[in-house]
Amino acid sequence: MSESVTTKTEQGLYINPKALTAHLSALQYQDEALYVEGVSVSELVERYDTPCYVYSQQAILDVYREYNESFASVEHRICYAVKANSNIAVLGVLVEAGAGFDIVSRGELERVLAAGGQASQVVFSGVGKTRDDIAFALSQGISCFNVESISELTLINMVAKELDKRAPISLRVNPDVDAKTHPYISTGLKDNKFGIAHDKALAVYEHAAKLSHIEIVGIDCHIGSQLTEVAPFIAALDKVIELIHGLRDKGIELRHVDLGGGLGVRYIDETPVTIADFAEALLPKLTELGLPVFFEPGRSMVANAGVLLTRVDVLKPTEHKNFAIVDAAMNDLIRPALYQAEMAVIPEILPSEGLDTEGTQAWDIVGAICETGDFLAKDRLLSLATGDVLAITGAGAYGFVMSSNYNSRPRAAEVMVAGSRHQLIGKRETIADLYAGESLWQSEK
Ligand code: LLP
Repeated sequence: MSESVTTKTEQGLYINPKALTAHLSALQYQDEALYVEGVSVSELVERYDTPCYVYSQQAILDVYREYNESFASVEHRICYAVKANSNIAVLGVLVEAGAGFDIVSRGELERVLAAGGQASQVVFSGVGKTRDDIAFALSQGISCFNVESISELTLINMVAKELDKRAPISLRVNPDVDAKTHPYISTGLKDNKFGIAHDKALAVYEHAAKLSHIEIVGIDCHIGSQLTEVAPFIAALDKVIELIHGLRDKGIELRHVDLGGGLGVRYIDETPVTIADFAEALLPKLTELGLPVFFEPGRSMVANAGVLLTRVDVLKPTEHKNFAIVDAAMNDLIRPALYQAEMAVIPEILPSEGLDTEGTQAWDIVGAICETGDFLAKDRLLSLATGDVLAITGAGAYGFVMSSNYNSRPRAAEVMVAGSRHQLIGKRETIADLYAGESLWQSEK
């Protein structure tokens, strides 16, 4: 029997560090000390300081392999969603492994190219592609634009004409399926801004087929993020298949179907469908369909490959609450503040007696930013002293990429670990970096 990961008491939530890390390939305790692959957190902190994001190369590659193996029986392409973690070292590891990419801006495409990737392996998503985005992607030979509106289709056709090219496109269909996730990361409902309504899609395809510089190559949908059940994916796939049949009847043949990203991960003790079970549920329908399938996973590829290391600066027990003020804050990791996301916080040194360790009490783990919303975790049972190092797990996705300089805080360092090797892959910003692009107002003399 494996130990349970969480214990809830009246005071708060205890996360058993050893039980939590048993589910994470990137992290383990050796002799009571936390390691990322073969490197101790204490060595990483000594070398790179805190706050610092650390990513396990192996954990990223393991998930990529799991996707490929699970969908081996159909022709497929795993297009990693760059927005989840766009560090060029992360992208480079995936380029080498043979991945494709899903991007939403010229910036993300340039990152893929800088990492050695090719535009021919890249799909371009997003509701508001600019003329410059489109021209750049076309000139690089993008694999497909996932189009979300008629006006975007018109713009792509126009830009392609100017460049004397034909633009490969998919329509992103909004299947009106409830992804049963946080409303801010649900994208496949009628009243979300994303995609083309399912009942309008056939007409828009017919319109696209008449445009001189558009080449229809696929169909696409993405219904949301951190989905833990397979049913919404199946419901969306059924709706997409219905459209593919409708298109065949009209003589429009597609070359691929893109099912987007969205597969959830275990942050603490959620039990999301595994990649293998996800594949098993979809494969009968995909096999029957007989079209190559693309996926755009972001979170599931990198979330649990990363941790955010932070140090306890101040302990502030009050009559009502105990606050542990750490050197990371909402500007480094905004998920708890923005989505009320619950992420695990575990100590670098394993507590000797677990929940019964002397001094264990409930702490809010908060940053030093002047906002009440600046918290990383609430009511966590921990035994803390100033100077302690903590690891926030599951931070590899939508962590560093969503960080900001709020309160003039430099963004954290990023490090990659592979076995016993480690390397700085993103330099900590300096204070001077923060205003390097600014200038003083020249007043009239
Ligand atoms: N494809 C498209 C078109 C997307 O919009 C997204 C994510 C993905 C793929 C990747 O989805 P994933 O596999 O990561 O679920 N910042 C939020 C998540 C926002 C997701 C936005 N779109 C968070 O931290 O939870």
